[in-house]
Amino acid sequence: MSETYTKTAISLHWIIALGIAIVFSVGIYMHELPLSPHKLQIYSYHKWAGMIIFLLVLFRLSWRFFHSPPSLPETMKEWEQQIAHLVHFILYFLMLAIPLSGWLMSSAAGYPVVLFGMIPLPDLVSKNKELADLFKAVHFFLNMGLFLLVFLHIAAALKHHFIEKDNVLSQMLPFLKREKTS
Ligand code: HEM
Repeated sequence: MSETYTKTAISLHWIIALGIAIVFSVGIYMHELPLSPHKLQIYSYHKWAGMIIFLLVLFRLSWRFFHSPPSLPETMKEWEQQIAHLVHFILYFLMLAIPLSGWLMSSAAGYPVVLFGMIPLPDLVSKNKELADLFKAVHFFLNMGLFLLVFLHIAAALKHHFIEKDNVLSQMLPFLKREKTS
C-alpha cells in the first residue's frame, strides 16, 4: 500500500471535482431557462462537459486499478473504514451512472450527443418518450444522491483534518501537510 496518492491521482481528483461542481450548477441553471437558442447552447456545453467527466472518471478508475491508494489511518475503527470505502464506491458509481443516464436520456429524447458539435456519439437507445422521461428522473435523483454524498465526503475530510488531526486530507492537498513535532 502506498504512503500517499500519486500526482496523477491528486490532479484527477481535483479536476473531476471542479468539473462536477460546474456541470452540476449549469444543470440546475439551464433547467429553468425558457426555450431559446441560448438554452440549447448551454445544454450542449453541459453534455460535452459531462461526457468529458465520464471519460476522465474511466481513466481515473483504470489509474486506481494499477496504483493502490494509501491506506486509511489505523486510528479509524473497522466500521468507520468500511463506511469510508462504501462512500467512495458509491461516489465512483454515481460519477459513471450520472453521465451515462444523461447520455441515455438524450438518446431516448432523440437528441444525439455531438461532442464539440463535431464528433457524433452513438445513440444508446432508440427514440422513446417514456424512456426519456424515466432517464430524466434517474439523472435528477442520481444527482441529488451525489449532492448528499459529496456533502458527507467533505464533512468527513474536514473532521479528519480539524478534529482527528490525521493526514487524510493532506494526502489530497499536500500543502496542508503538518510538520512532525517529534
Ligand atoms: C458529471 C456529469 C453530470 C452532472 C453532474 C449532471 C448534472 C445535471 C443536473 C444537476 C441537472 C438538472 C436536473 C434537473 O433539474 O432536472 C442536469 C440536467 C440535464 N443533464 Fe446532466 N449532468 C451530467 C452529465 C450529463 C450528460 C453526459 C448528459 C448528456 C449527454 C446530460 C444531459 C442532461 C440533460 C439533457 C439535462 C436536462 C434535463 C431536463 O430537460 O430538464 N448530463 N444534469
